[in-house]
Amino acid sequence: MNTTALEQTPPRLPCTLVTGATSGIGRALALQLADAGVPVIALGRNPEALRALAAHSPLVTPCAADLAQIDSLPALAARLVAQHPGLGCLVNNAAIQNDLRLDDARCDSACIRHEVDVNLVAPMVLTQSLLHHLQARGSACIVNLSSGLAHAPKRSAAVYSATKAGLHLFTQALRVQMEGTPVRVVEAVMPLVDTPMTAGRGRGKLPAEQAARQLIAGLRAGQADIRIGKARWLPWLQRWAPGVLARILQRG
Ligand SMILES: NC(=O)c1ccc[n+]([C@@H]2O[C@H](COP(=O)([O-])OP(=O)(O)OC[C@H]3O[C@@H](n4cnc5c(N)ncnc54)[C@H](OP(=O)(O)O)[C@@H]3O)[C@@H](O)[C@H]2O)c1
Repeated sequence: MNTTALEQTPPRLPCTLVTGATSGIGRALALQLADAGVPVIALGRNPEALRALAAHSPLVTPCAADLAQIDSLPALAARLVAQHPGLGCLVNNAAIQNDLRLDDARCDSACIRHEVDVNLVAPMVLTQSLLHHLQARGSACIVNLSSGLAHAPKRSAAVYSATKAGLHLFTQALRVQMEGTPVRVVEAVMPLVDTPMTAGRGRGKLPAEQAARQLIAGLRAGQADIRIGKARWLPWLQRWAPGVLARILQRG
């Protein structure tokens, strides 16, 4: 779907909170949703990037917040619900990837804890904090950004891989819990996408704009498992060539 087609499609998605909206996939997602008429709450830390997002469209509300401040997240969620009663979609997109072996001198407990907090604990706490509000709506969705590394690890990113595996299983569990409720739980699996997270590595990366466009198309189509680009091969590789998949992903 091209941008023009997106713009012509009536906005069926509700007001959406996108975490990590200041960069990469989250930024592309926030901009495309706003361009399609969807109100967006854009969460991140970088003030300049937040200002630029707000300047792009009046539909973007910037939200400066540090997801590593776990104890502040329930109050943040309550404030957002009060300010945006139409909030009906949470996209847990923000993440960090420390390219560090566990025996690297720079890898310590604080570093591990920070990565787990941002990538896994924050999405869980934000989800829990918004759940009653979302359940009270006619329809709502929670979208978690996942990776092939949830299924086979990257050699230099043990903690990141573990957080994505945790987020994958959390998504599955939440989906079971939300059966019979208006809340749709979506897992969006990304291939290697060209963003600051992957700067300087990999080949054949998908542009972030295309990744965002495919994600929005999947959401609009009502898909529960949205596999973007080459990630569509993941189930096939897991079943028929797990050794090949493991070797590809180990290299990152
Ligand atoms: N790129 C890929 O190839 C790829 C592949 C598979 C999955 N994914 C997943 O896709 C998602 C987006 O990745 P990306 O490549 O677009 O990453 P990115 O360009 O590095 O952007 C990461 C975003 O997370 C935000 N963030 C990081 N720490 C934060 C914190 N403490 N509090 C609030 N926000 C924080 C950053 O915002 P601030 O710096 O402003 O805080 C930034 O907006 C992630 O979940 C990633 O795991 C990406």
